[in-house]
Amino acid sequence: MAEKYIIKQSGALCGEIEIGGAKNAVLPVLAATILTGQKCRIQNVPNLSDVESMCVLLESLGGKRDWNKQKGTLDIDTSKLDCSDASYEIVGKLRASFLVLGPLLARLGRAKVSLPGGCAIGTRPVDLHLKGFVALGAKIDHSHGYVTVDAPKLVGAKVYLDFPSVGATENIIMAATLAEGQTILENCAVEPEIVDLANFLNAAGADIRGAGTDTIKINGVKELIGTVHSVIPDRIEAGTFMVAAAITRGDILLTNVLGDHVKPVIAKLKETNIIVEELDTGIRVRYEEGVDVVAADIKTLPYPGFPTDMQAQFMSLMATAKGTSIMTETVFENRFMQVGELKRMGADIKIESRSAVIEGVKRLAGTQVVASDLRAGAALVLAALRAEGTTEISGLHHIDRGYYHLDKQLNKLGANIKRVQA
Ligand code: EPZ
Repeated sequence: MAEKYIIKQSGALCGEIEIGGAKNAVLPVLAATILTGQKCRIQNVPNLSDVESMCVLLESLGGKRDWNKQKGTLDIDTSKLDCSDASYEIVGKLRASFLVLGPLLARLGRAKVSLPGGCAIGTRPVDLHLKGFVALGAKIDHSHGYVTVDAPKLVGAKVYLDFPSVGATENIIMAATLAEGQTILENCAVEPEIVDLANFLNAAGADIRGAGTDTIKINGVKELIGTVHSVIPDRIEAGTFMVAAAITRGDILLTNVLGDHVKPVIAKLKETNIIVEELDTGIRVRYEEGVDVVAADIKTLPYPGFPTDMQAQFMSLMATAKGTSIMTETVFENRFMQVGELKRMGADIKIESRSAVIEGVKRLAGTQVVASDLRAGAALVLAALRAEGTTEISGLHHIDRGYYHLDKQLNKLGANIKRVQA
């Protein structure tokens, strides 16, 4: 049954929030459990619909899961996993399902995965993933919307990524862990989630060096074994709550967050006159009384640049900042889906190809809006906290993919959000 948020203008949000495990770290780690063929225990697992979708996929392949949502531990047993076909229904719900391709290829010698459709933010090609598999010796067949890859044996190779794709880096690393010989991955992604995946795989017996740099070396091993791994905190959830403090002119302490992973967001918030203090207890984000929040320009880039996953949320903050901000989205070709809805709330935003020019306005007004994708949805929630009156947001299934009870978490800080039947 569809639901919607009813959000009333909020005063300053104040208090403490514990950040959960990273969605974009746990998904590749779950896919990687396929490589072990044993039991793995994953800890600090966020209670998100994307995680549930990945569990359903692993079960459809023959895996077993036992998820204790209260403790945040997820036991995955892939010892009986013997199916190499990932169905359209499941992949259609979760693009990240494509990450099972590398592990299935390495473990079973073949994989058939529905081509992940595009989504609201772009066409989302997978050519770089496939380039890596071919380099390792796989044969690729594209037909009827499916990709089938076959490789009775994978042999290590040198692969240069035209773009430092996060997913392609993860998929090729996973395939290479059981290949014969060494694979060198160049111009690869350096996101913290890559490091977390490499840490999980090395704990399971892999031999991966250089994760976190743009060149990763993987020496193939005979087998991987089950292990225990705790997932890193979610830097995008953290950034979202930092913007919640800024947009409501509040004061929030975030705990269980790694300062290094949110450096670009911290730097940008400081540019807008928001105070950010890295304390032993966590990161405190607060508004300084009487000091205007001012515009700052943003250009999204692969890590350690400003994260594309924080672009929409930051745009909501810029919509009511003093001055003009130019935000350029260099990673995805269509990631301004929140603009139309923000303009309906009174924001003054003009899109000029890959850039948006935001003239800060004094106030936003609540109205009915629709979330089009995960981060655009989060941006609308943030804007609604600031907007006068009441805002209704539908399309909550997008938000649930990446945030656990976002309404309840914000209400704990002083927001007034109700989740009702639409
Ligand atoms: C991951 O997606 C994240 N998802 C995304 O987070 C994130 O926005 C993105 O990385 C960039 O940081 C997960 O980790 C599950 P990419 P991914 O491959 O791997 C092009 C969120 O909101 N490209 O780095 O799909 C692609 O078109 C989500 O949590 C190719 O051209 O991102 C895009 O323009 C959204 N060919 C750019 O690279 C390929 O083969 C970045 O994509 C692959 C990608």
